[in-house]
Amino acid sequence: MNNIDALKQELVETVKAANDIAALEDVRVTALGKKGKVTDMMKTLGSLAPEERKKIGQALNLLKDEISAEIDARAATLKKAALAERLHNEKMDVTLGPRPFPQGALHPITRTMEELAAIFADFGFSVAEGPEIEDDFHNFTALNFPAGHPARQMHDTFYLPDAAGEEGAEQAPADQKRLLRTHTSTVQVHVMQNRKPPIRVIIPGRTYRSDYDQTHTPMFHQLEGLMIDKTAHMGHLKGCLTELCKRFFEVDNLPTRFRPSFFPFTEPSAEMDIGCSRGKGELKIGEGSDWLEILGCGMVHPNVLKNCGIDAEEYQGFAFGMGVERMAMLKYGIPDLRTFFESDLRWLKHYGFGPQETF
Ligand code: PHE
Repeated sequence: MNNIDALKQELVETVKAANDIAALEDVRVTALGKKGKVTDMMKTLGSLAPEERKKIGQALNLLKDEISAEIDARAATLKKAALAERLHNEKMDVTLGPRPFPQGALHPITRTMEELAAIFADFGFSVAEGPEIEDDFHNFTALNFPAGHPARQMHDTFYLPDAAGEEGAEQAPADQKRLLRTHTSTVQVHVMQNRKPPIRVIIPGRTYRSDYDQTHTPMFHQLEGLMIDKTAHMGHLKGCLTELCKRFFEVDNLPTRFRPSFFPFTEPSAEMDIGCSRGKGELKIGEGSDWLEILGCGMVHPNVLKNCGIDAEEYQGFAFGMGVERMAMLKYGIPDLRTFFESDLRWLKHYGFGPQETF
């Protein structure tokens, strides 16, 4: 019996001395495992007299239970301490203030669209948006591109596979063929179908054409404008766009000119140029000997009004569309279009804008 007491004493000490869960596991094995000290003593029971065996056996079982309980209690204490330590070490101060230096920047495209929207807001235009995946009707037919019209070819359209591509499926009607919009003029159609004039909207957004070189990327941005009421005429169009360019390029006496052009959805159609000079390889916007093409525009074709459910006898209006990248390149002197979409952080740090920079 003395042996058992001594063993108990010894084991309780070692349990207390275990300073982490791994050490405590070792103690459990040394005490209660198959080759452990208590088990060893159990093995000697066979050689004892029956009375003695019973007494010692009971005492050993009791010891086993007691040591087990000691170990469990110690384990609970150690786990609690370990958790408290982790919580302390991984503590995070959510009240930490803002970083001392601003991180990140607005892409020149975002900034340019915001600048243009702010100017048009002063003219009473609101912003409209529409889907990038369109059908042939909204991209072409409604805009007065008849089937087989050569202007369709000029758009290098990305067509999407439709159900007709699957075996046994019926060919989709030509008007429903899905595509990535090649211009934001699609949204003119949605707006006219869904709103009653007077209409005054601008439509910024992504557009897609299968083209890639120094001045073309397969995805680019346009900003479209549409104005419909009973009296809008070419003079309003010219005044509105001239004022826009003066404000956007921050040049008060900016010469502008409108050259006749062709778009199926406007009649008459024009391209607008702004004055510039090119000296020592540097382009300067303003009075000068040169012209820069800046956007396409015109009076909305009566067929387009009719296709979109607007009475062409009663209403008329103008539309225009410009490339956002081109506007940004000209204003901020960015030489290569492709760099806009290379996600080079150094480029963005150089040409990007802090959110706090106002315009
Ligand atoms: N949608 C034309 C283009 O992508 C631009 C435009 C819009 C021209 C509206 C006239 C009127 O080239």
